[in-house]
Amino acid sequence: MSTIELNGDIFEPYITEEQIRARTRELAARINEDYKGRVPIFIGVLNGAFIFLADLIREVTIDCEIDFLKLSSYGDAMISSGQVRMLKDLNCQVSGRDIIVVEDVVDSGLSIDFVKNMILHENPNSVKFVSLLLKKGIPKIDFTIDYVGFEISPEFVIGYGLDYQQKVRNLKTIYRLKPDGSKE
Ligand code: IMP
Ligand code: MG
Repeated sequence: MSTIELNGDIFEPYITEEQIRARTRELAARINEDYKGRVPIFIGVLNGAFIFLADLIREVTIDCEIDFLKLSSYGDAMISSGQVRMLKDLNCQVSGRDIIVVEDVVDSGLSIDFVKNMILHENPNSVKFVSLLLKKGIPKIDFTIDYVGFEISPEFVIGYGLDYQQKVRNLKTIYRLKPDGSKE
């Protein structure tokens, strides 16, 4: 698989479709076990988490419900603006329910912290967090992400839901920005 060039930035293949599929199955197996006899609500954080959520829940065999919320913190930049705004609220009743928040990546941790506070405010029975990717060393959060797909170094990644200026979410493989920018 070769590199991709976007606006002069070079990205190299990082996590393959097969690796994502295998890890997603493992996470779903743990969720199936942990939530046996319960009916959790998976809450996907738009836009990035839509592909991972779709693949994850198809490996989930317990009864479950799904909802989405949409946040914005990045604009089109590669680093966080530090501001989280809610662009679309939940449509489900959180009170008394088991909530599983699904993220594509936890970078600074600001977004997931915002979601956690928002959900706790509505008195759920429980809240847990799933993130396909967790950037090492950065997250400014005082709680753990219960189900992590891959811990990665703090690099900018794209594909499989993750965008570069709103594009390339449709790539099946996750790519990372090449540090030295070389094409080889
Ligand atoms: P955080 O609030 O800094 O943890 O980042 C939250 C959101 O920013 C994630 O859910 C992603 O949608 C987006 N994001 C963070 N890192 C990346 C990246 O490397 N590539 C693309 N989007 C990212
Ligand atoms: Mg996201």
